[in-house]
Amino acid sequence: MAGRLEGKVAVVTGGCSGIGLGTVELFVSEGARVVAADLQDAKGAMLEQRFPGKVRYAHCDVTNDAHLAATMALAKEAFGGLDILFNNAGHGGAPNGVVDMTAEGWDSVFALLLRAPVMGMKHALPLMLERGGGSVINTASIAGLQAGFGPLAYSAAKAGVIHMSRCAAAELSPQKIRVNAICPGLIATSIFGASMGLPREVADQMAAQIAEVGPRIQPVPKAGLPEDIARAALYLASDDSAFVTGTHIVVDGGITIGGRSSWDKDAPSPLLAAMGITPEQAEQMRAAMVAAQSA
Ligand SMILES: NC(=O)c1ccc[n+]([C@@H]2O[C@H](COP(=O)([O-])OP(=O)(O)OC[C@H]3O[C@@H](n4cnc5c(N)ncnc54)[C@H](O)[C@@H]3O)[C@@H](O)[C@H]2O)c1
Repeated sequence: MAGRLEGKVAVVTGGCSGIGLGTVELFVSEGARVVAADLQDAKGAMLEQRFPGKVRYAHCDVTNDAHLAATMALAKEAFGGLDILFNNAGHGGAPNGVVDMTAEGWDSVFALLLRAPVMGMKHALPLMLERGGGSVINTASIAGLQAGFGPLAYSAAKAGVIHMSRCAAAELSPQKIRVNAICPGLIATSIFGASMGLPREVADQMAAQIAEVGPRIQPVPKAGLPEDIARAALYLASDDSAFVTGTHIVVDGGITIGGRSSWDKDAPSPLLAAMGITPEQAEQMRAAMVAAQSA
C-alpha cells in the first residue's frame, strides 16, 4: 500500500531531535522525502546516512532568514519542490517573569518561536504555489493555552503561534495552502534539559526521566512520546486533513482537561478541601444523594 505521503516533500525544522526527529522518521516511512533543518550537524549527518536519498540535512538557524531561504531552496534542489512545512524548532528560552524580563530575552524567544515559523512560510510559499498548494504545521504548546506550563515569553509566543496559524490559514487558503498548529503536552524530549542550559548529551538523557514522570501527572497513564506528536503532524500533512485549516490540535494525554481532581478520584477537590470536606466525606455525601434520588 502506498504511504500517506508518497511523492511529497517536507521540510521539518528542529528535525534532529525529539518531536522533529520522530516526525522525520514517520514522514519517511510514509513515503515522503524530507529536509531536516537543525543546528545539530552530527545528528544531521547521521540522519542522512540512515535514510540515503530520503533525507537531506540543512544546517539552519531558523532565526536567520537567509538560512531559512537556503533550506527551502535545498528542498527544491534535492527533491524537486516542497509540499509540507513543519515549523517545529524550539527551546524554552528566557525563564524570566514580568519582574525581571529583559528586552533581549523576550525578543530572542519571539524570534525563535513566532517569527521563524512566519519567515519559514514566507520562503516556502513560492515552492508550494508551484505544486498547487501545501500544508504548514506549526508546533505550538499547551503553554499557549493555559498558564503554568512554561515561562512567560515561551507561553506568550506559543499562544501567538496558535493565532498566527489561524490568520495565515485565512490568508493562504485561496492558494490551497492549509495552516494548522499542534499543541503538545508533556513530551519526553531533550527540550527540558536543553532549556536549562545543560549540554545536549545530558539533555538527551533527561528525556527518559520525563517519560517516567508523564504517566503520573496526566489522565492518560502513558508517557507522551515524539511519535504521538508525529502522528498528529502526519494527519495534518496528509490529505486525510484536506478539510482542516486554521485550527490547533491538542495532543496532551488530557493534561489540560481540568484540575487533577477532575480525573483522579483520589485527589482532593480544591473547593471541597477549602471547605474542610475530605474526599471520604465527599464520597459519602455523593452516595447519599444518589441513594435519595433512587429511593
Ligand atoms: N517536549 C515537550 O514537552 C513540548 C511541549 C510543547 C511544545 N513543544 C515544542 O515542540 C518543539 C520541538 O521540541 P522538542 O520537545 O522536540 O525538543 P528538542 O530539544 O528535542 O528538539 C528541538 C530541536 O530544535 C532545534 N533548534 C533549537 N533552536 C533552533 C534554531 N534556532 N534553529 C534550528 N533548530 C533549532 C534543536 O537543536 C533541537 O534539535 C518546540 O517548538 C517545543 O517548544 C515541546
